[in-house]
Amino acid sequence: MTNFDERAKAWDSDPKKVKRAFDVANAIRELIPLSREMTAFEYGCGTGLLSFELKDEFRQITLADTSQGMLEVLKEKISVSGVTNMNTLRLDLIIDPIPAEKFNITYSLLTLHHIHDVHSILRKFHELLLPHGILLIADLDKEDGSFHTDETEDVHKGFSRSELHTWVEETGFEDVRFSTAHVIRKEIAGIEKEFPVFLLHAKKV
Ligand SMILES: C[S@@+](CC[C@H](N)C(=O)[O-])C[C@H]1O[C@@H](n2cnc3c(N)ncnc32)[C@H](O)[C@@H]1O
Repeated sequence: MTNFDERAKAWDSDPKKVKRAFDVANAIRELIPLSREMTAFEYGCGTGLLSFELKDEFRQITLADTSQGMLEVLKEKISVSGVTNMNTLRLDLIIDPIPAEKFNITYSLLTLHHIHDVHSILRKFHELLLPHGILLIADLDKEDGSFHTDETEDVHKGFSRSELHTWVEETGFEDVRFSTAHVIRKEIAGIEKEFPVFLLHAKKV
């Protein structure tokens, strides 16, 4: 059982996580016009907080995650709410075969920093998109390592926007832009620290 499996049931009871998804959904809407003609793929969806915000603005959303616990909570939410345009997938894009379907939009919230091989995952995101499809990645700006209090976690300490910009262009995207979608505030050793969350926009060439 992973750390995320254990945390899944309590995930949505944290109002900060709900607000974070709400802010990122708004930042996405400000950035691009969404339409019921479009299909979307969310990677590292967790309990689906972000996609639940956006569900009425897409025809179909595929939500993927590696955590069985997260996906169980998500499936229950889909079933209880009667949503018909969301489907779930247990998937590790680094090792599993890539789904055959292509999407108009791929998005991800606070998942990239958990993936060791960023270049490989960017290539997979590129493959998953239709021509001129849009990639949206929300994640932490470069931080000092204090964001994750669990020392056993092997994660990226956020990302430099300029470095990520270069990597995304090298993968075959253009129109790469960043905005700040949200700021996470956490008390670390009695002091409140701010962790900005960027939203990267990129278009498949
Ligand atoms: C910080 S949580 C964010 C969850 C959700 N996006 C949200 O904002 O509420 C990171 C999520 O990424 C998932 N994850 C971690 N490593 C992953 C990987 N290699 N591939 C896919 N998902 C992964 C975890 O299971 C977890 O659901």
